[in-house]
Amino acid sequence: MTAPNATPSSIDLIGNTPLVLLKGPSAAAGCEIWGKCEFANPGASVKDRAALWIVRDAEARGELKPGGTVIEGTAGNTGIGIALVANARGYKSVIVMPDNQSKEKMDTLRALGAELVLVPPTKFADPNHFVHTSRRLAEETEGAVWANQFDNVANRKAHIESTAPEIWEQLGGRIDGFTCAAGTGGTIAGTGLGLKAFDENIVVALTDPYGAALYNYYANGELKAEGSSVAEGIGQGRITANLEGAPIDTQFRMSDEEGLEWVRRLLAEEGLCLGLSSGINVAGAVALGQKLVAEGRKDARVVTILCDTGFRYLSTLYNPEWLETKGLPVFPWLVR
Ligand SMILES: Cc1ncc(COP(=O)(O)O)c(C=O)c1O
Repeated sequence: MTAPNATPSSIDLIGNTPLVLLKGPSAAAGCEIWGKCEFANPGASVKDRAALWIVRDAEARGELKPGGTVIEGTAGNTGIGIALVANARGYKSVIVMPDNQSKEKMDTLRALGAELVLVPPTKFADPNHFVHTSRRLAEETEGAVWANQFDNVANRKAHIESTAPEIWEQLGGRIDGFTCAAGTGGTIAGTGLGLKAFDENIVVALTDPYGAALYNYYANGELKAEGSSVAEGIGQGRITANLEGAPIDTQFRMSDEEGLEWVRRLLAEEGLCLGLSSGINVAGAVALGQKLVAEGRKDARVVTILCDTGFRYLSTLYNPEWLETKGLPVFPWLVR
């Protein structure tokens, strides 16, 4: 069978996402701001890449055998990626998640066939934290592997080997800056390392939400969190194995309000329906673009990650009652 323009396996639908020029952010920055459309992955988020690389790595090490189980603790998107990849490769998936994440993510995981284990949100030091619970479950389950997305560097390898070369190729080898937020840190560290391997002059910036400790770490060497954020999937309090050696040149901190304003504008003006981590990333990309322009790089090109679809947050970011309880602005078209 010859099918030169078709995809031979569903697994191959992960990655090779489009890169789009963002008009409003480019105008605000005074230079080109590009968004990598990770919501176009089969699981509708950037985490499909980590899920695929983690599963392939466990297979290659002989840890994951036919009929085995992949177990993970996740804010949701990694679980969705793992559930899809596990189905495609003939494995079961068990996902442990804090019970304060969006209902859409929980319903999606159940719909995909994952076994969902909900635990109360708690500090990382607490043995009942979702990450530790998932590790224990994996130890107790025969034929199971623990995906361990935070400290398994197969996660960042996904971005070294796929996200970075895709961006480099899509922009014809001319990029000046890259920025995004960190959850596990796989995306910022892996894409940063991968891009710098092409051109060490590319400026890599961390865009941190409030409530995370990394902004202070990269600014003053101290892991210290301030404030809080409702953004899901981002906000880290420690240097994970994926973050070790991340080539961070500079850092920004963005509020939920700044991120939401870009979520609103990208939907209203450019027809892109995104989650809050994408809005925070775009706010950071605008700040990085403005910095590069101020330093004399008038034709700067900055890339960021559009991490997941807004359809995953209809009950939160796109729900006036929820926004009001959080004291956050409601999109004008939702005001009744
Ligand atoms: C919506 C969303 N944005 C961003 C991230 C952060 O990606 P990373 O874990 O690679 O730092 C995640 C991770 O779960 C996520 O779910």
